[in-house]
Amino acid sequence: MDDLDSLARDIREAACVVALTGSGISAPSGVPTFRGADGVWDHFDEGQFTYGRFQRDPAGFWRDRLELQRALFGSSYRPNVAHEALARLGRTGPLEAIITQNTDGLHDRAANVQNDVNRSVDNDCDREYSEDGGRTNQTEPAESGETEPTDPQNASGASILELHGNAHRVVCVDCGSRTPAEPVLDRVDDGDVPPRCDCGGLYKPDVVLFGQQLSKPTLQRARSLARESDVFLAIGSSLVVEPAASLPRVAARSGATVAVVNLEETPVDRHASTVYRADVTEILPRLADLVESV
Ligand code: APR
Repeated sequence: MDDLDSLARDIREAACVVALTGSGISAPSGVPTFRGADGVWDHFDEGQFTYGRFQRDPAGFWRDRLELQRALFGSSYRPNVAHEALARLGRTGPLEAIITQNTDGLHDRAANVQNDVNRSVDNDCDREYSEDGGRTNQTEPAESGETEPTDPQNASGASILELHGNAHRVVCVDCGSRTPAEPVLDRVDDGDVPPRCDCGGLYKPDVVLFGQQLSKPTLQRARSLARESDVFLAIGSSLVVEPAASLPRVAARSGATVAVVNLEETPVDRHASTVYRADVTEILPRLADLVESV
């Protein structure tokens, strides 16, 4: 029995399977990763996109954000077979939640495209949250318009927790209303900077900016899912940005089987039960096939 067979068996026998994904799962869809060869941060400076920059120089922030968003999501892209494999695992039952660091919305698109089967599911593997959220070395959260937890229930049943928000929405920092990003980016492109809500408040991308704290419910939910998981899959992430990077260790400490799927080494590898140094598009469809094959 090779590693993947035993992981498939663990998943089949698990009460609660959770996946954490990073930009590597969207790379095969043409969405650039942040680090590694030709990563986004080779072409942009993270400092351009901090919450402090947004507050100090919203017009300059939005001009740079327009460039970043076009670089990340310019070409039309769609879910790939790895997203679809996770959607299948959500539909067939064992995958309770996908915690994603990605803001591209591809997990939700894969799940909704894949299924007309609804499945009622508990977001949290049926347990209570206990730990108070709170992120290390972060500044105070945004007053209003804070990026709230977005874990839309989708047709596949697995809840999707967008840890860093969703780049296809913007949020008003005054009234908190959310709206699609594209028309606002077009306004920026036409020189309407910084873009404002009808109430007069500034629009902010509905993502967690560097220096901004994740919302407590989001963090609490992610940590509780990790703690309650029996199998925790860390997929396509360098696992260097907190608080996502600590989730696999939380799962391991709670006795979960932790599997890492990533082309490059990660700091979590030594805490993992198994590491697949392989492409997500090779591993995940095979894993879904094995899980479904009984
Ligand atoms: N299959 C498997 N792994 C892949 C693939 C692939 N096809 N393509 C890339 N990878 C791996 C890379 O080797 C890399 O280790 O995916 C990882 C992506 O790492 P990052 O680019 O650092 O992305 P991520 O971990 O999601 O970054 C976390 O950092 O800048 C912030 O907010 C941003 O959410 C992001 C966070």
